Amino acid sequence: MRVGDDKIEEIRRSSDIVDVIAGFVQLKKRGKNYLGLCPFHQEKTPSFNVSPEKQMFHCFGCGVGGNVFTFIMEHEKVSFIEAVRTLSDRAGIPLPERGGDQGLAGENEGLYKACKTAGLRFYDNLVNSTEGQLGLEYLKHRGFSDATIRKFGLGYSRNAWNDIVEYAAGLKHDLAEYEKAGLIIKRDDGSSLYDRFRGRVMFPIFSPSGRPIGFGARKIREDDTVQGKYINSPETPIYSKSRNLYGLSHSKEAIRERGFAILVEGYADLISVFQAGIENIVASSGTALTVEQIQLISRYAKTIVLVYDADSAGSKATMRGVDLVIENGLDVKVAALPPGDDPDSFVRKKGGGEFTALIGQAVSFLEFKAESFVAEGLLKTPEGKTQAVRSLVEIIAKVRDEIKRNFYIKSIAEKYDIYESVLFRELEAVLRREHAPRTFLRPRGSADAPLRRGDDSPSPPVPPSPATLSAIERDLLKIMLEAGPDMVKFVFRHLTIDVFTHPLARQVAEILQRETGENRPWNVSLVVDRIEDPALKHFIADVTFTKYEISKEWQGVEEPDRWVVAEKSVLRALLRDIDRRIGENFAQLKSAQLRGESVGPFQAEHLRLEGEKKRVESTSLLDTKGE
Ligand code: CTP
Ligand code: MN
Repeated sequence: MRVGDDKIEEIRRSSDIVDVIAGFVQLKKRGKNYLGLCPFHQEKTPSFNVSPEKQMFHCFGCGVGGNVFTFIMEHEKVSFIEAVRTLSDRAGIPLPERGGDQGLAGENEGLYKACKTAGLRFYDNLVNSTEGQLGLEYLKHRGFSDATIRKFGLGYSRNAWNDIVEYAAGLKHDLAEYEKAGLIIKRDDGSSLYDRFRGRVMFPIFSPSGRPIGFGARKIREDDTVQGKYINSPETPIYSKSRNLYGLSHSKEAIRERGFAILVEGYADLISVFQAGIENIVASSGTALTVEQIQLISRYAKTIVLVYDADSAGSKATMRGVDLVIENGLDVKVAALPPGDDPDSFVRKKGGGEFTALIGQAVSFLEFKAESFVAEGLLKTPEGKTQAVRSLVEIIAKVRDEIKRNFYIKSIAEKYDIYESVLFRELEAVLRREHAPRTFLRPRGSADAPLRRGDDSPSPPVPPSPATLSAIERDLLKIMLEAGPDMVKFVFRHLTIDVFTHPLARQVAEILQRETGENRPWNVSLVVDRIEDPALKHFIADVTFTKYEISKEWQGVEEPDRWVVAEKSVLRALLRDIDRRIGENFAQLKSAQLRGESVGPFQAEHLRLEGEKKRVESTSLLDTKGE
């Protein structure tokens, strides 16, 4: 799908950023802006700002920011075009039909359509066909209510080779899209097609924004000879097992509200627990957690509670993802099920209340590990004890927060009766040893950034925050972003792009120069859409929301005259440049002096620069602003 710039403008105008964000975050009016608790990180005092005037948002706590489209993209983890679609639906502005035409994000529309069509077909089979009764009875027998079945879109694939093939053909849909979406398969003869899923109960897998992207198909028939209790959709352009979490589109609000996500393995586990009223839950589908999945969860909460079922091979796979969770700065706790139970059977036997209690008793991952060493009898011998302590310290070393690390060290020291200093020495050794670059999650200059002492390994690409940006550059950018093309022309009439030494500031300045050169009208919100890099978007939002720094006189002034600020900033930039040249000249003078050479030319240059400085100091630029 291709959406024209005019359409996007129309949607933007109809989607007031305060209205949209107020649907997700409680906002209070504070001066010109609105303030609330940031939905992108955990905080107790609000630092999330929304500006109706600029149509931008920005969090001073975690650095996230952008315009109304950026908000939907980041909040729902969707592409730009999906954000446009969400907001167009909300505003009631019809968009061109999906599919058919090309365009980057639109190229998968046919696959989404195929999955949606198939999902509706499976549901219809389940509730309306005679054959589907088998599936419905199975689900009822498992305790799923009609409402739950509808909510999760469960279905049944007919025990036939061409139910979906014929259904899609009847709708005149392009079967190639169904094949790409993994719903049907080409026979070896190269021409005929058959259904992938046959005679099974179907669990649609939804994207975080709630569109069906794949399926898990559970065996229920005795005559089903296909291998595997579950058959899943293959990897497709819209579905990747490692980048999705089952149930997230249903549970994200509850995860955000509760502040943690419960992680189980199975589709059925998730649905049973959800049906019992515990909705902050996702399922890993029996694989080890990936960075992408952790990243998804971290959008909504910073703690994961694993439900460990001792008998399942799956649990062992899940456990393998735990290090990664810790490395990425999230907390992991473990709630152990009684032997023989999985979350589904536990909830069905004991109910939601007891499941909640079980979750409440979750222990830190470290304690869980320690207990499992005890159970293995490792702590009975000195060698075993050394080994156990070492592996616990190795886990602790992965914790990024130094304070938390120290806390954990103290707790093991106590538990195993070991000198703290010995443990700290061991920890230091592990930290020093671990020089390999690691995978970090959305690194930002936030409070929980890695704090590894003595670590000179390549650090994660923390984008330079405007804190390291000079006041001059920040003011110049802010003023240009606010005032638009005329201001950009004014600034670059007096300064060259080299005045921007901060890498992100330089990029933004270049974009503004380009936009202005093309003589198109623009504003901050529009500029943000022309940028792909989230770090750059956040940077722009940050600059937009910070106060002018140029002079103490502005402190407390709501709206300083932009042209006056601009003039001061430009002059300060010019002076900064002259000072730099004076410094360089002085250094050359000194070294000439040391070599016993003539310093005359440098003295002359010094006087010339001092004179230039005086001139700039007494200049007024403002009469040139409108030209
Ligand atoms: N799984 C899979 N393929 C299999 C077995 C399991 O993809 N052959 C995935 C599924 O996502 C499944 C999860 O791993 O939900 C957990 O597996 P398991 O515990 O064996 O299944 P349950 O979810 O308990 O399934 P059920 O209760 O229906 O037996
Ligand atoms: Mn089960």
